[in-house]
Amino acid sequence: MAYNLKGRSFLTLLDYTPREIAFLINLACQLKIEKSTGTFNKNLQGKNIALLFEKASTRTRCAFTVAAIDEGAHAEYLGKNDIQLGKKESVKDTARVLGRMFDGIQFRGFAHETVEILAQYAGVPVWNGLTDTYHPTQVLADFMTILEEFGYLEGISLTYVGDGRNNVANSLMIGSAKMGMDYRVVSPSSLFPDDKLVALCREIADGTGADITVTDDITKGVSGTDVIYTDVWASMGEESKIAERIALLKTYQVNKSMFEKTGNPDAIFLHCLPCFHNLETDTSRSLPDICEATDDVFESGFSRVFDEAENRVHTIKAVMVATLGK
Ligand code: CP
Ligand code: NVA
Repeated sequence: MAYNLKGRSFLTLLDYTPREIAFLINLACQLKIEKSTGTFNKNLQGKNIALLFEKASTRTRCAFTVAAIDEGAHAEYLGKNDIQLGKKESVKDTARVLGRMFDGIQFRGFAHETVEILAQYAGVPVWNGLTDTYHPTQVLADFMTILEEFGYLEGISLTYVGDGRNNVANSLMIGSAKMGMDYRVVSPSSLFPDDKLVALCREIADGTGADITVTDDITKGVSGTDVIYTDVWASMGEESKIAERIALLKTYQVNKSMFEKTGNPDAIFLHCLPCFHNLETDTSRSLPDICEATDDVFESGFSRVFDEAENRVHTIKAVMVATLGK
């Protein structure tokens, strides 16, 4: 079934119904097949797309760029030092100017309020490519990867281990609640998700059959799970907290012995990337002593992280086509 999402912004999964989320994931699967056969319908022909980045990005930037070009649009990268935003010009004025020139705007940055103001004043669809609070396009790719692996989402157990209140964890909890999944967040209590967001997700879960568990107990959190997911221990903007986070999270490292605790031979590993994992062998960068995942998981046969990364392009394309396409 097709849903009319034309003109809608995509700021958080809270704004989308379970059916609309399923529609976007299914559209992404269809666009993936079309790309593999070289069929491009140029759904965004003649459109201009602004890509605003206050923070660094590999996957999100490249996914928006490639998806736009595949569909016939022009994508313009506007980095934090390239435009007046945050210096001479307010977010509200920037939104009104870009909205007169571009047909759609991607924003990645710090305050979630910035993307909300952009969406309020631009008059064109605005897509959230990550804020401090949410990372919704990431979760579409994650769920597409889970769907490809297991064939369904409802009832799938997804355990997020690590910083339980970062942007990725928040969006996974919302998405899991919407899609009737069994979401478990495993972290020290000081990194539990915000109580209000947990309460809201439990309210959504009451209507979808989802379960939301928040625990500091690794064995309880991973037992029988289908997916173990982790992310960096300090997100962009939290660089000064790295030492503190290592101390808090070192026993929450995702490694082979944690996977054995699932008791599920079919469990898979997901990570939004970028990931610190091969500390012993990687001498090319300055790296922490201990990190969120080990190579016996990251490089294993049950790791799906590069399928997940590829799926960013198909899901982001689906969001742009659904909200802006012909
Ligand atoms: N997962 C993700 O958003 O990656 P980038 O930071 O490289 O965009
Ligand atoms: N939580 C991470 C996600 C990066 C894709 C961050 O915000 O840096």
